[in-house]
Amino acid sequence: MGALESVDVSFRYPRTRDLVVEGWSQRFDPGTVTAVTGASGSGKSTRLYVLALMARPGAGQILLDGGRVDDLPDTHRAALRAERFGFVFQDAALDPTRTVLDNVVESCLYRHEDPHTARTRALDLLERMQVEVPENRRPGQISGGQAQRIAVCRALVGCPDVIFADEPTGNLDEDSARVVLAMLREQADDGACVIIVTHDRATASWADVHVAVTAPEATR
Ligand SMILES: Nc1ncnc2c1ncn2[C@@H]1O[C@H](COP(=O)(O)OP(=O)(O)O)[C@@H](O)[C@H]1O
Ligand SMILES: [Mg+2]
Repeated sequence: MGALESVDVSFRYPRTRDLVVEGWSQRFDPGTVTAVTGASGSGKSTRLYVLALMARPGAGQILLDGGRVDDLPDTHRAALRAERFGFVFQDAALDPTRTVLDNVVESCLYRHEDPHTARTRALDLLERMQVEVPENRRPGQISGGQAQRIAVCRALVGCPDVIFADEPTGNLDEDSARVVLAMLREQADDGACVIIVTHDRATASWADVHVAVTAPEATR
């Protein structure tokens, strides 16, 4: 795959109309881990949502493999997200009604993958991520750190080209954080474009590229 790029992107949430991202241009390359840092409220999560085609920029463009993708119809953008992107939300955002294993394999069903293959890959990821809970547990009965690692498994199960991780080690002890980062590094080594939002300086300096963001001047 090629790069993912924001070109002069600005963004406002419809409710407040406040400018959250202003004139942001940044390129993210395959095979690379990029750390995005910035103060709380500086628009890090918002930038990930716009890059991951979950929110449309008010101005500017998102390019994938050199082609514009932000202006595609919703169904086409949803298909790109399902087929090419993996997203780890800040709060894990697991489905409380599904088991641990079903949470991980859910996205494979949208892509009409063979259920047996998906299940095997999910179990392998859960084991490698050292999620030591029975696969039929539900998210209400696990720790925050386990939920976070399960969310990483869910994002990786489809072998995505681009992985977005919003503070993926925020809830984790040092050992678990190392496991998660090693896994993200492995994806980049395999050619994925990995974008991590982090507050952790060590993680930012461990990344290949460090992007520091700030809120637009008018809102600071
Ligand atoms: N759904 C929303 N509606 C309106 N404003 C929002 C919404 N989500 C976030 N914001 C605002 O946008 C700004 C950036 O938020 P966010 O991207 O979550 O920052 P960060 O991830 O860097 O902490 C903040 O001022 C926040 O209050
Ligand atoms: Mg955030």
